[in-house]
Amino acid sequence: MYVEGAVRWGAWIALLLWGSVATGASLASSSPWPCPHRCDCQQEALQVNCSTRHLSAVPEGISRDSHRLDLSRNRLKTLARRQFAGLPRLRELDLSDNILSVVEVEAFQGLQNLHTLRLRGNRLKIIPVGVFSGLAGLRLLDLAENEILVFLDYTFRDLTSLQRLEAGENDLVFISHRAFTGLAGLQELNLNRCNLTSMPTEALSQLQGLTRLRFRRLSLGTLPNNSFRRLSRLRELTIAQSPWLDTLAPNSLFGLNLTSLSITGCNLTAVPYAPIHHLVYLRYLDLSHNPITTVRAHLLGDLLRLQELHLVGAGLLRIEPGAFRGLAHFRLLNVSSNLLATLEETAFHSVGNLETLRLDRNPLACDCRLLWVVRRRLRLDFDGRPPTCSHPVKAQGREFRGFSESELPGLFTCRPARILNRKPQEVRVEEGHTVLFFCKADGDPTPAISWLTPHLSLVSPTGRIRVLPNGTLEVRYAQVQDSGTYLCVASNAAGNQSFSVGLHVRGFSSSSSSGRNRSAPFFPEGWVLPSGYPQSIANSNSSAQGPSPFPFDAKTLVIAVTMGFLSFLSSVVICFIFMFFWSQSKGQIKHTATIDFVPRSSAGTSGHRGDRVDTGRFTMKLI
Ligand SMILES: *[C@@H]1O[C@H](CO)[C@@H](O)[C@H](O)[C@H]1NC(C)=O
Ligand SMILES: *[C@@H]1O[C@H](CO)[C@@H](O)[C@H](O)[C@H]1NC(C)=O
Ligand SMILES: *[C@@H]1O[C@H](CO)[C@@H](O)[C@H](O)[C@H]1NC(C)=O
Ligand SMILES: *[C@@H]1O[C@H](CO)[C@@H](O)[C@H](O)[C@H]1NC(C)=O
Ligand SMILES: *[C@@H]1O[C@H](CO)[C@@H](O)[C@H](O)[C@H]1NC(C)=O
Ligand SMILES: *[C@@H]1O[C@H](CO)[C@@H](O)[C@H](O)[C@H]1NC(C)=O
Ligand SMILES: *[C@@H]1O[C@H](CO)[C@@H](O)[C@H](O)[C@H]1NC(C)=O
Ligand SMILES: *[C@@H]1O[C@H](CO)[C@@H](O)[C@H](O)[C@H]1NC(C)=O
Ligand SMILES: *[C@@H]1O[C@H](CO)[C@@H](O)[C@H](O)[C@H]1NC(C)=O
Ligand SMILES: *[C@@H]1O[C@H](CO)[C@@H](O)[C@H](O)[C@H]1NC(C)=O
Repeated sequence: MYVEGAVRWGAWIALLLWGSVATGASLASSSPWPCPHRCDCQQEALQVNCSTRHLSAVPEGISRDSHRLDLSRNRLKTLARRQFAGLPRLRELDLSDNILSVVEVEAFQGLQNLHTLRLRGNRLKIIPVGVFSGLAGLRLLDLAENEILVFLDYTFRDLTSLQRLEAGENDLVFISHRAFTGLAGLQELNLNRCNLTSMPTEALSQLQGLTRLRFRRLSLGTLPNNSFRRLSRLRELTIAQSPWLDTLAPNSLFGLNLTSLSITGCNLTAVPYAPIHHLVYLRYLDLSHNPITTVRAHLLGDLLRLQELHLVGAGLLRIEPGAFRGLAHFRLLNVSSNLLATLEETAFHSVGNLETLRLDRNPLACDCRLLWVVRRRLRLDFDGRPPTCSHPVKAQGREFRGFSESELPGLFTCRPARILNRKPQEVRVEEGHTVLFFCKADGDPTPAISWLTPHLSLVSPTGRIRVLPNGTLEVRYAQVQDSGTYLCVASNAAGNQSFSVGLHVRGFSSSSSSGRNRSAPFFPEGWVLPSGYPQSIANSNSSAQGPSPFPFDAKTLVIAVTMGFLSFLSSVVICFIFMFFWSQSKGQIKHTATIDFVPRSSAGTSGHRGDRVDTGRFTMKLI
C-alpha cells in the first residue's frame, strides 16, 4: 500500500518535472494534459491535432492551455456561439477544409490571444456582422475558397490587429463600402478570383495601412481613374488573369507610390505608359501575358528606379531603340517567349548594368544587332536559358553560349543597306496624274525604306502622297506644288543609303478645266465615285478599257437626265474623241496613265459660269 502510493507519487512528480522541463515554467502549475479521443496531442508544443478524423463536432476535453488546435479536414458543419470559450490561450485555430456553412455570431468570443484563424475551403456564403467579435489579437484571417458573394458593412470591424486577410477564390461580386472599416492595421489583402465587376474603391480607401494588394480574375474592362484612393502606403499591386481588362485609365493608379506592379494575363495591348509614369519608386514591373507588341522608345524614362521588367509570352515584336533610356538601374529583362527578331543595344540606357537577360524562345536573327549579347555571353546571367539563333541558316538552333571567339567574325555580321537600280528617275507630268517612284534596297538585316518630301518631312504610309508597303512612293493626283526632289532613304543597323528622284508637275491648261482651282481636290461636291468601280473608272490604265465599265447606275442616269441627256452624251462623245487622240499622242506615259471620270465642280467653277461647256456639267478628266 505504502509502496504503491510512493510509486504513484513518484510518477506524478516525474510527469510534472518532465512537463516543466519540456514546456517551460508557464506550465508548472497546470493540471495533467488531457487529450480528446481521436486527436494527437503534443504537450511540449501545446498542440492538439485533430486533422482528418471525420469529426462532425468540435471534440470535448481539449486542454485549456492549448496554443494550437488543428481541426482541418473534418466534417464540421456549424460553429455555435462561444464555441471555443474554454480555450483562452489558443493562438492558432485551423478549421480549413470542413463543410462549415453556419458560423454563429460571437463564435470565437473569448479567443483574445488568437492570432491565426483559418477558415479556408468551407462553404460559407455569408458572414454575419459580429462573427469575429472578440478576436482583437487576430493577425491572419484566411477565408479563401468559400462561397462568399458579398462582404457586408462592418464585417471585420473588431479585427483591429489584423495584418493579412486572404479572401480569394470566393466568387465575390460586391464589397460594401464600409466592409473594411476597422482594419486600420491591415497590410496585405488577397482578393484572388473575385468576380468583382467594379473596383471596390470606396471599401479599399478604408485600408490606409495596406502595403500589398492582389486581385485575380477581375471581371473588369477598364480600371477607372482614382481606383486606389488613399492607399498611399501600398507598395505592391498585382492584378492577374483578368482577360477583360484592356484599359487602364490615365489616372487609374493616381495616388499610389508602388515599388512593384504586376498586371499579367490581362488584355492590355500596350504598356500603360501614362498610368504608371508617376511611379518613380517602381522597381519591379511585370506585364507578362498581355498582347503587347511593342515597347516604344523613350516612354519609360520616368521610372527612374526600375530594375526589372518582365514581359513574357506577350507576342512582343519589337523593342524600339531608346525603350529603356533613362533607366540607369535597369538590371533584369525577361522577354522570354515572344516574337522578337532582335534586341538592340541602343534600347538600354547602359547595357553595362544589365545582369540578367531572358531572351530565349524568340525567333532571333543573329546579326550585328545581337553582337553585344554574344560578346557578354559569359558575363550575362541567362537564368539557365541562353538565347538561340533562328536565322541565318548556318547558325540556326545554336545557343549563344556555344559560339567560340574565332567564329564570331563570320557570324553576327550585317550588310549595310544598298539601294538597287539607282537609275535617275525624273518624271514630268501634267497635274492630276498618279506617279510612282520605285526604291528597292537590299542588305542584312532587310533595310527599312523611308521617303522624304522636298521639304524634308517624312512621307507617311497614308494620304495622297504615301509610301506603299514595298517601298514605292506614290503621288496621286499630282499637283503643281508637289514638284521637287524626293529622297529615298534605305537604312538598317549597319548603315544607310539615299537616292533622290525628281517630280515636275505642270499645271493643266485645257479649256475644260482651265478655271479649276488647282490646289483643290478634283472631286466636286455631291459626287462620289461608285465604290465598286474605283479601279476600272478612276484608274483604268488604257483608253480602250474606258467606256466598257461605265457606271450607268440610277444615280448617274437621274443626274444625266436632269441635266439634259443630249448635252451629256455630246460631252461624253467629245471627251472620247479627245481621249482617243490623247492616248495616241501621250501613250508613252504608260505607268501613270489613268482615266478619271469626274463632273465639273460647282464650287470649283463658281467664277466661270459663262464657260461654253456649261450645259454639260460633266467633264471627262483624262489623267
Ligand atoms: C496534423 O496532422 C496531420 C496529419 O494527420 C498533418 O498533415 C498536419 O500537418 C498536422 N498539423 C499540425 C499543425 O502539425
Ligand atoms: C465567377 O466567375 C466564374 C468564372 O469567371 C464563373 O464560373 C462563376 O459563375 C462566377 N460567379 C458568379 C457568382 O458570378
Ligand atoms: C481620367 O483622367 C484623365 C486625366 O485627368 C482624363 O483625361 C480622363 O477623361 C479621365 N477618364 C475618365 C473615364 O474619367
Ligand atoms: C481582348 O481584346 C481584343 C481586341 O483588342 C478583343 O478582340 C478580345 O475579345 C479581347 N478579349 C477578351 C477576353 O475580352
Ligand atoms: C514612396 O516610396 C518610397 C519607397 O518605398 C519611399 O522612400 C518614399 O518616401 C515614398 N514617397 C512618398 C511620397 O510617400
Ligand atoms: C522569366 O519569366 C519566366 C516566366 O514567367 C519565369 O519562369 C522566370 O523565372 C523568369 N526569369 C527571371 C530571371 O525572372
Ligand atoms: C509596289 O506596289 C505597287 C502597288 O502595290 C505596285 O504597283 C508596284 O509595282 C510595286 N513596286 C515594286 C518595285 O514592286
Ligand atoms: C544615315 O547615316 C548617317 C551617318 O551614318 C546618320 O547621321 C543618319 O542619321 C542616318 N540616317 C538615317 C535616316 O538613318
Ligand atoms: C483654291 O483652294 C484652296 C483650298 O481649297 C484655297 O485656299 C485657295 O484660296 C483657292 N484658290 C483660289 C484661287 O480659289
Ligand atoms: C494595265 O495594263 C496592263 C497591261 O497593259 C494590265 O496587265 C493591267 O492589268 C492594267 N491595269 C489595270 C488596273 O487595268
